[in-house]
Amino acid sequence: MPKPLPIQFQATDLEALAAQKGRIAVLADADQPASPGFKRLDRLTKGALTRAAGSEAFGKLKPGEAMDLAYLPGLAADAVQLIRLGKKADQTQARKAGSAVGKSHGAGGSLVLAEGHARAADIAFGLAMRAYDFDTHKSGEKSVPGPVTLMATNPESVAKAAAPMAAVAEGVFFTRDLVNEPANVLTTHDFAARLAAMHELGLDVEILEEEDLMKLGMGALLGVGQGSESPSKVVVMQWHGGAKGEAPFALIGKGVVFDTGGISIKPAAGMEEMTMDMGGAGVVAGVMRTLALRKAKANVVGIVGLVENMPDGRAQRPGDVVKSMKGDTIEVINTDAEGRLVLADVMWYAQERFKPTGMIDLATLTGAIIIALGHENTGVFSNNDDLCNAFLAAAKSEGEGAWRMPMGDAYDAKLKSRIADMMNVGGRDGGAITAAQFLQRFVKPDMPWCHLDIAGTALLKADTTLAPKGATGWGVMALDRLIRDRFEK
Ligand code: BES
Ligand code: MN
Ligand code: ZN
Repeated sequence: MPKPLPIQFQATDLEALAAQKGRIAVLADADQPASPGFKRLDRLTKGALTRAAGSEAFGKLKPGEAMDLAYLPGLAADAVQLIRLGKKADQTQARKAGSAVGKSHGAGGSLVLAEGHARAADIAFGLAMRAYDFDTHKSGEKSVPGPVTLMATNPESVAKAAAPMAAVAEGVFFTRDLVNEPANVLTTHDFAARLAAMHELGLDVEILEEEDLMKLGMGALLGVGQGSESPSKVVVMQWHGGAKGEAPFALIGKGVVFDTGGISIKPAAGMEEMTMDMGGAGVVAGVMRTLALRKAKANVVGIVGLVENMPDGRAQRPGDVVKSMKGDTIEVINTDAEGRLVLADVMWYAQERFKPTGMIDLATLTGAIIIALGHENTGVFSNNDDLCNAFLAAAKSEGEGAWRMPMGDAYDAKLKSRIADMMNVGGRDGGAITAAQFLQRFVKPDMPWCHLDIAGTALLKADTTLAPKGATGWGVMALDRLIRDRFEK
């Protein structure tokens, strides 16, 4: 599994620049004096950097954007990447600058001159995040990325600031790997095994098997998985970094390792995308990994429901009535609305067993949220303004798009069933909202709760600043930030 690139932090060594191979990145901005590294490179190249920095093209770059100067005489390096970044750059701009390096990082290695920059650690983080590449299933010669060195005025303090960020990057990579993995590889069994392996990091990991789930009465979750050869599982991951005996915060994830739709089968075109239907569980796993890696001072429990939604002779039918762990009965009108059935039981279990101080669930739950918000924002639904606003603030500060959606009794009324306590669908209109209303029926009255519908943000067809196309790991940064700001102060 790909891990973030190791980055060496060292003091600036101007003597090393002429012989440096690979790529060199250097920061410049029109309204500030050139750095010593810039001046040195400029002298070696007989003024090439000054000319480039004064060009119209450079003037048009936004903060964090870069220009490549290739094969300059006087240098052994293949290219100098001139990045527009001023001393007052914010976190987003610094990450973007780093991502420009990460995107073009190759076998020759990269050297980043971040002398005296207050956001050198953010540059390193952006670099690591964007250098992600999921190449496990590509045969033939794989390009091995070269070393990365970041030169800073105070390398020890930059390394110290970068360490918790590296934990976040590794959590994000764990999520991306899980989400990118095809469903023949990432079965419920394989998924659970990858989570169990996090025991090494100090997490308590338990795997509940079908027999256990049956005893707990998880009829809603079990109904979804009953058509698959892969047995349904619930995995409980506990991180005890906070005060002893203090109730944890709960993260719940939808882990449908493949969603065919079941008997209400999906159309063939695009069905391959449903390998990402475990994205919520993937994010929960990534956050738990980050918390363990950076030894977070908080108690957090992550619980994921792992199932596969398949059509089969034993599969659940439209019209079946299942009984949830809570005791409420559900008429399964559409077997493709399976995520909510899984979450209903896992959320109830989390509340019964852990009495958490709050709960956030993540799920690639509805196509409707993509119609509403596109791929730019996750849909946020909540019964608690305080928790919801704290989450929105955390997402904003991490640059992860999130937008609150409405809820209300009129939406809830759409779930009324003729023969059971509720139906699992509320019609096409407002489909993401009726899905959230369904979930809220499994949230205890005073439990602060947020539901994040990540159907549009878990996987993208185009590159973003911090991720190549494919799995994004959306939410790991925001949730890590929320836990840090809310519980570790
Ligand atoms: N996993 C899908 C939602 C989804 C769609 C995720 C597109 C990512 C991209 C979910 O299980 C589903 O099938 N939802 C249905 C619900 C409907 C049957 C009420 C949908 O959105 O069509
Ligand atoms: Mn579905
Ligand atoms: Zn699904």
